[in-house]
Amino acid sequence: MRLSSANAIKADFHDIYRASDPRRYFSVMGGLDYVIPEIAGPILLQLADRLIQSTGRPITILDIGCSYGILSAVMRSGLSMDELRCRYAKPALQVQNSDGLAWYDSHYYASWPPRGDMRFIGLDRSPEAIAYAQRVGLIEEGLVVDLETNSPRERARSVLRTVDLIVSTGAVGYVSEKTFAKILQVFPPGQAPWIASFVLRLFDYTGIAETARHHGLATERLEGVTFMQRRFRDETEANEALRLLESRGLDPAGKEAEGRYHAELFVSRPAADVNRANLSGIVSPPS
Ligand SMILES: C[S@@+](CC[C@H](N)C(=O)[O-])C[C@H]1O[C@@H](n2cnc3c(N)ncnc32)[C@H](O)[C@@H]1O
Repeated sequence: MRLSSANAIKADFHDIYRASDPRRYFSVMGGLDYVIPEIAGPILLQLADRLIQSTGRPITILDIGCSYGILSAVMRSGLSMDELRCRYAKPALQVQNSDGLAWYDSHYYASWPPRGDMRFIGLDRSPEAIAYAQRVGLIEEGLVVDLETNSPRERARSVLRTVDLIVSTGAVGYVSEKTFAKILQVFPPGQAPWIASFVLRLFDYTGIAETARHHGLATERLEGVTFMQRRFRDETEANEALRLLESRGLDPAGKEAEGRYHAELFVSRPAADVNRANLSGIVSPPS
């Protein structure tokens, strides 16, 4: 089944991705216990720290489907999704317009110790989300583009060429191998960045892994662990997801059958890096 067809069974949150600030995102997604950025953050930091150590310089992280810069927020601050949801629900912030909220947020996010060794590029098809993330300092550069249907222009290509690590949570399904192929094409042979994707078990990652392989990257799935993403919105969404998982030969018992989507971690790296240490040797998921 194509990624886009599997994605169609998920509840549609298009409107909240296009708001001028993240308040509705946190109230709606928070209401569904959307936690994947918080679970992914510490693992992505382990990969980032490894790259910082091996390159001996600051690195650039590309967050595909970055929305309002949420992964950057949790990776830089260690805040939980619940802490962020509560912050945006505070009456003092609820009464602000988006400009006022952005003023508070830019000071808030600047109050954590700076990580001079990590810079973020956000890519999203939502101009509103990218503008907000950039304005409050959660991403250093923003790319508003849908690479499923368009090609990157020259400015985007030169920004993408600076990337060391591509990350994503909640984006695969919306984006497919088409997006990854267009990003990887900008790198000279042998210089593709690492890719770390948290992907719902609904989705088949084979096409993206194959694209990565064409660019010299070997893909591993972290064995023996899945990551909670969010609760199903309703019974219809749950039933559809369970039906799709079963059609993929996956057993939902103890995972999706308990009422939540589960994701897996796929990491693509040059084969030489994989041979030196496999994925379970370089990341340890929090319990
Ligand atoms: C579920 S949200 C995930 C946001 C964030 N990564 C997180 O985990 O909190 C999906 C994001 O993907 C973006 N998106 C959807 N289709 C896209 C596409 N074709 N290209 C780039 N971004 C896309 C949406 O605008 C939205 O911000």
